[in-house]
Amino acid sequence: MKAILDLDTGIDDALALAYALAHPDLELIGVTCTYGNVTVPLAVRNTLALLELLDRPDIPVFAGPSPDGFQPSEISSFIHGQNGVGEVALTPSDKTEDAQSATDFLLQAVRDYGDDLVIIPTGPSTTIAQAMLADATFAANAHIVMMGGALTVPGNVSAWAEANISQDPDATDYLFRHSQDVIMVGLDVTLRTLLTEKETARWRATGTTAGEVFADMVDYYIRAYATTAPHLGGCGLHDPLAVAVAADPSLVEVIETNMKTDTQGPTRGRTIADETRLSQEPTAKVAVGVDNERFVREFVDRLEELFRTVGAK
Ligand code: BDR
Ligand code: CA
Repeated sequence: MKAILDLDTGIDDALALAYALAHPDLELIGVTCTYGNVTVPLAVRNTLALLELLDRPDIPVFAGPSPDGFQPSEISSFIHGQNGVGEVALTPSDKTEDAQSATDFLLQAVRDYGDDLVIIPTGPSTTIAQAMLADATFAANAHIVMMGGALTVPGNVSAWAEANISQDPDATDYLFRHSQDVIMVGLDVTLRTLLTEKETARWRATGTTAGEVFADMVDYYIRAYATTAPHLGGCGLHDPLAVAVAADPSLVEVIETNMKTDTQGPTRGRTIADETRLSQEPTAKVAVGVDNERFVREFVDRLEELFRTVGAK
């Protein structure tokens, strides 16, 4: 399966990128960059540097749209660091983003690859909604597995809203109302898939630069989680779980329904079933259960192998 990631390249987005490269059933054909954990220009720089580190500088990176003057929230910078990658100094790439826009790349990819392509957004829905608005056939044909939202649990930036959705609830609402095939991988499942320093120690023990950089980034993220959510006992593997589900949907149990996002009032950003479309053919699957033991094991093993292989070159 070919895959495109839409990343706001913070720490778990970096893990999603590495996992898309490490997963035997995915072929990453491009990365579109969005805002959220960091600005779009910083997401582009982080992505290019990480692709260099992981020995895949051939993968094209595209810049997506951003609200004017966007700056990450204080809590985003606390969790991911000011530079988005836990204050780890990545070696900058000498490459720049592709001249094509993120939206045009997505439209072209769905035309070219149709059912052989999965799009994995792990930030706000802004770019995906823009592609849907630009061409209705995109919404009709795109297969999307998104990290975002919360159906059965509270949000993480407010009682209602998860961080990615809260950035642009209108865009996610548009996505839910127009997509014909979306799997929502939200906090319902991503807060059950946790990583601790025990696992990052294995990556560090590869002795490779990639293993050390990823261990340093994720240890920073684990320490942030120990402050903001000590009850979890680790950091949430939000974005890499969406990659895993894109490759292997059998990892999750789902509720099939039609979704909407509240765009007004105190519940703005809430992702919930659309009561006006309950009897219509469902277009969304919402993950509510996950085989976290299998996911974490495969994830840690495959990244260990990736870091070892990249370091041996
Ligand atoms: C989501 O918000 C971002 O901070 C993370 O990268 C993830 O995509 C979790 O709510
Ligand atoms: Ca993200």
